[in-house]
Amino acid sequence: MIREYFGVGSIENVRLILAGVAPRSIFLVTGKRSYDDCGASKALGNLLAEYSVSRFNDFDVNPNIDNIRKGVDLFKKKRCDLVIAVGGGSVMDTAKVVNILSAHDEDAALYVKKERKIRCSGKPLVAVPTTAGSGGEATHFAALYIDKKKYSLEDERLLPTYAIIDPQFTFSLPKRITASTGMDALSQAIESYWSIYSSDESKAYAREAIMLAREHIVHAVNQPTIEARIAMSRAAHAAGKAINTTRTTACHAVSYPITAYFGVPHGHAVGLTLSRMFAYNSTPSEADILDIRGVAYVKGVMRELAVLLGAQDTESAKKAIDSIMRKIGLEMHLRELGISGNDIEIIIKNGFDPERVKNNPRLVTEQALRKILNDIR
Ligand SMILES: [Fe+2]
Repeated sequence: MIREYFGVGSIENVRLILAGVAPRSIFLVTGKRSYDDCGASKALGNLLAEYSVSRFNDFDVNPNIDNIRKGVDLFKKKRCDLVIAVGGGSVMDTAKVVNILSAHDEDAALYVKKERKIRCSGKPLVAVPTTAGSGGEATHFAALYIDKKKYSLEDERLLPTYAIIDPQFTFSLPKRITASTGMDALSQAIESYWSIYSSDESKAYAREAIMLAREHIVHAVNQPTIEARIAMSRAAHAAGKAINTTRTTACHAVSYPITAYFGVPHGHAVGLTLSRMFAYNSTPSEADILDIRGVAYVKGVMRELAVLLGAQDTESAKKAIDSIMRKIGLEMHLRELGISGNDIEIIIKNGFDPERVKNNPRLVTEQALRKILNDIR
């Protein structure tokens, strides 16, 4: 179980955690600039002043295996016994992976490629998200890349020990980052709700996230109020808890090559196919249903999702998602992002992470995906 703290000023709880753990050597994972820009360095500076701290920020926006190896080397050299991760999704993922692999002896890639099993826990980890997006502070998995291919490390022991969701760190987030990370949270909640692995509990978290994000995402991007920022932080955290049970589905599977090959930020890449996948999942048949609860159940789920999005039916829900994308200023066509018609084949070839596509309620065929990508060309 994660120990959670939520609210403006909740960062102060780091003091209690430090007093309890009494670390000799802290591994502090941060973004390159975001740590200063979001106010976290100011808020944590005094709290960390009397401790020995090794800061690690030398990794890419979409962390790769070399970044992880570098982190593991530093972690072991400094004999760290507590991790504090302050940042967005990439920071969370890097911190979680470096922490657990530092407890193992062999090369990081072997564990990531599942050639070796995770056997040990890492050190206690304090996750402090500074975006309202990934929900990585609430999940037991982490993403990283080896040669543009996306891998996911998954283990209960990756779950952070503490999560401090202090929305103050999102107050000064730039518009584009607010938009793409907010879209990640909304997509994660929607995908979790329609996932074949959804449960009553995961759906309750997803529902909370969808309603909050739908109401507040446009304000958080265009006229950010404190209320909208707090609501988006809550939405992102709830969506994180929802996908911790269900994982994500087809929109995420397709997004990874769009990010790896064409540099589109994660949440934006996910949002590109969300409305089309919504329409696709709304019309499953006996021939292509993947959820064992059946066609009628999935159609019901899609109607519930439409209502959660404030729409009358699934067709208007698709429009509602497009309207959110437009209002928050995220390009909706591949061509606007420098992705040509020929590039679509790269996305198709690399966009079928079977683990994720099989979570989707309706089978996504190559033909169906090609049609969706051509629709957003
Ligand atoms: Fe995501």
